[in-house]
Formats: sequence, structure tokens, C-alpha cells
Amino acid sequence: MTTIIREIREQFNPANPAECIGQVELLTVDETKAIVASAHQAYREWKNKSSVARGEILRVLADLLEEEIDLVAETASREMGKTKNEMIGEVKRGASILRYYAQEGMRATGEILPSANEDKILYTKRVPLGVIAAITPWNFPVAIPLWKIAPALVYGNTVVWKPSIEAALTGKLLGELFERAGFPKHVVNVVQGRGLNVGQVLLEAPEVKAITFTGSNGVGQSILNTAGSTNKKIQLELGGKNAAIILADADLKSAAKLTIEGAMKQTGQRCTATSRVYIEQTIYDEVLALLIEETKKIEVGVTMGPVVSRGQYENILAAIEKAKSEGAELIFGGEPAFNETQGYYIQPTIFKNVTHEMAIAREEIFGPVLAVVKVKDYEEAIQLSNDSEFGLSASIYTENIQKAFDFIKRSEVGLVQVNDETGGAEPQAPFGGVKNSSTGAREQGQAAKEFFTTMKTVTINTK
Ligand code: UN1
Repeated sequence: MTTIIREIREQFNPANPAECIGQVELLTVDETKAIVASAHQAYREWKNKSSVARGEILRVLADLLEEEIDLVAETASREMGKTKNEMIGEVKRGASILRYYAQEGMRATGEILPSANEDKILYTKRVPLGVIAAITPWNFPVAIPLWKIAPALVYGNTVVWKPSIEAALTGKLLGELFERAGFPKHVVNVVQGRGLNVGQVLLEAPEVKAITFTGSNGVGQSILNTAGSTNKKIQLELGGKNAAIILADADLKSAAKLTIEGAMKQTGQRCTATSRVYIEQTIYDEVLALLIEETKKIEVGVTMGPVVSRGQYENILAAIEKAKSEGAELIFGGEPAFNETQGYYIQPTIFKNVTHEMAIAREEIFGPVLAVVKVKDYEEAIQLSNDSEFGLSASIYTENIQKAFDFIKRSEVGLVQVNDETGGAEPQAPFGGVKNSSTGAREQGQAAKEFFTTMKTVTINTK
């Protein structure tokens, strides 16, 4: 008998870093390899099950998730800091993703095509890929894993899922729910561990046919470097520096409210967060006042949670200091938010008179920080908003239909919003960006099929 010594990781509450909320055992490299091999084995049967039956188990999981909504939301909230209310919303979203993909098991899997030869029947059929590796972040510890895993499973793949180590307890809990829902053994596998060992196994394993990842650009690049030379399919959802434009003809009150929601929801820790706003000069002062009025409504510790970790806390505070030193003018927040438990709380922060060269106008911060830029007109706004290495989401606030359509046409992003905040995603709609924000096929909706399946083209000669 061999004794396996695993590293134990303790999780702490970012709202109260002295409070240990649980432990997870991290897998060794060899254990991870064995799990990948089992997922490969399980694929043989799973791919032959009817997609209707596969979908049925996803539906059971949706029900279970709703039954356990309080536990899941509480666990995730204490683990990664999102408020309980925000987490409840996310768990509901998770259930609706599962129901969408449960139904997917009943939808068409191919097309009949006309053949040039009247005696031939020509059709296509979607088929699964094999073992999929899903590597997911801490900021949506329920919804993002589900919007990757649910389509992967319903289309007949098996999955090895590595949750972020910062959301490991939530990952463990979801793993238990997958089991209770009745997936056959090794169809869905949770592997807890660090990127450098467990993650690396997934990138290198020959049985893994596709890797779907959401997270930082740095890790995304190393996935491309490692797995790009193999024949694995790769889907990366990376950073954003999402712009909003507020024009003089907009409903300014609503624009300010939605801009602050976009910037501060989930403590700004969304790749879709609004992080820069371009305001026409004639309404600049008026909108600044409205932005401040909206931000004052946020109660740190009640409606806004802490950031996820000490590392993020320090990075965000450093970005704030850099903005100050580059000459941006602080008009709200800009400091840690005092609290007795020394949680990683940061005040919602707004800088005005930001110029395009400043880091705060260009780099992703992933925290509750908004950069405000004064522009001459719409033309200047669209040019500055497009001048970014990222291209995930962008908003325009206007009542002018021509400008709205012009923005839809010219905005260099994957998600365009008119009179709405930059974040948010519905299960039936494709999600993803352009430029350095995304690589590979879109997530969610019918678009997920592109990534999680390949096609067979069948010709039957009837003569
Ligand atoms: C949303 O805006 O609700 O990691 C979804 C992220 C994105 C998902 C955002 N991939 O923040």
C-alpha cells in the first residue's frame, strides 16, 4: 500500500482573514493523471448515452442546486467575498444555465444537406471531443464552471474540472452535487490543486482534447504556450477594460446609476466590469455629481463585499496609488475601508480627469475603481474606447438612434450594450470578446456547440 501525502490548504474568509472556513486536500500530479485516465475511460460509455438522458441529469442538478442554494451561496460568499445576495443571484443563474443545457439534449445535432447526386443522402452530425479540461476562476465560482461543464457534458464529453484554488470549497461542494445528481462515476471530476502541478497535468495530458479557461491574461498566455503546440482545442476568456460612453442626450440619471453598477457590482471583480467612462464635456460636471451620488449609496460590508485575497487587495491599492501619482484626480474613495476584522475591503473609488496614457485608463484592475475621462464629443469617445488591447464589452448611453447604431457597428468588442451596463450574460446568448479578451469559440448559448463538439459529414449512397 502506498501512502499519499497531500498538501492541505486552509481557506480563510476575506471579510475576516483570521477566520478559517475549511480545508481542502490538494491532489498530487500522479493522482491527477489517474483521474484524467478515468475520465477517458468513462467517456466510452457516456458518449453513447442519448443526449436526452444526459440532459436529464443536468436538470436534476439544477433542482439540487436550487434546493441547496443557501449553503452554496453562503459557502462561496465566505470563501471569495461576494455578498450573499450576489451569490444567490449567481446560483440562480447557475440553475438556469443547467436547465438551458438540459433542454439542449433534445435539440438538433446536425443538418440534412442537398447532394449534387440525387441518389445520395448527405448530412452532418455533431459529435463530442473526449475529455475536456475546464479551468475556472474564483470570481464566478458557480456560474462559470457550470456554463463550461453543462454544455461539455450534454454534448457527450467527460470533464476534468479544476476550480480556482481560491474557490476550492465551493468547487468541492459543487462536486458533491454533481455526484448526488447521478452522473456516472468519472464523467465529471473535480481536481483541486495548483496551476503549476494539477493545471500543468491537464495541459499536457494526451487524453485531454480541449481546454476551456477563464482567468487572467498571464495564465491564458501560458496555456497557449503549453497546449497550443498540441492538437488540443483552446478556449480562453481573459481580461477586459470595458468602456462606457455617456452622451449629452442620454438619460443621465439612469446612465450614472448603470455605470456605477457596472463598475462596482461584485466589488468590480468581473471581467465585464465598467472600468472607464467617457463623458461628453457639456455634461461632464453634472454626470460626475450623479456618479458620486450613486456611489454614496453603496454600503461597504453590506452591499459591497471585500476583494478576494490579500494579493488582490494589495494589487488594487497599488493601482490606486499609481493613478494618484500619474495625476488622476481622486473624487471618491481611494483608500482601504476600515473594518474591525481587517477584511480586504476597499472603498468604491472614482478618479476624474484621467488621460488616455495613464495606466488606470489602459490596464485591467479587477477592483472597485472607475476612471472618468472628459471627451469633446462622441467621435473622440469611440476612438479612445476602441484604443485598447482588450475588447470584451462596451456600453453607450444615448437617446440618439444613429449614434447607438454607429456604436454597435464600430465598437471593437464582443458584447455591445445600448443603455445598459457592461456586465451580465444570459445562458442563451453567446459570450466572449475580441482582441486580447478571448481566444477560440464563444461560450454559452448555441455557440457553445462550436467548442465542445466536432462534426461528422455523412454521405450515404442509396444506389
Ligand atoms: C457577468 O458579467 O455577469 O469572469 C459575467 C468574468 C466573466 C463573466 C462575466 N467571464 O467576469
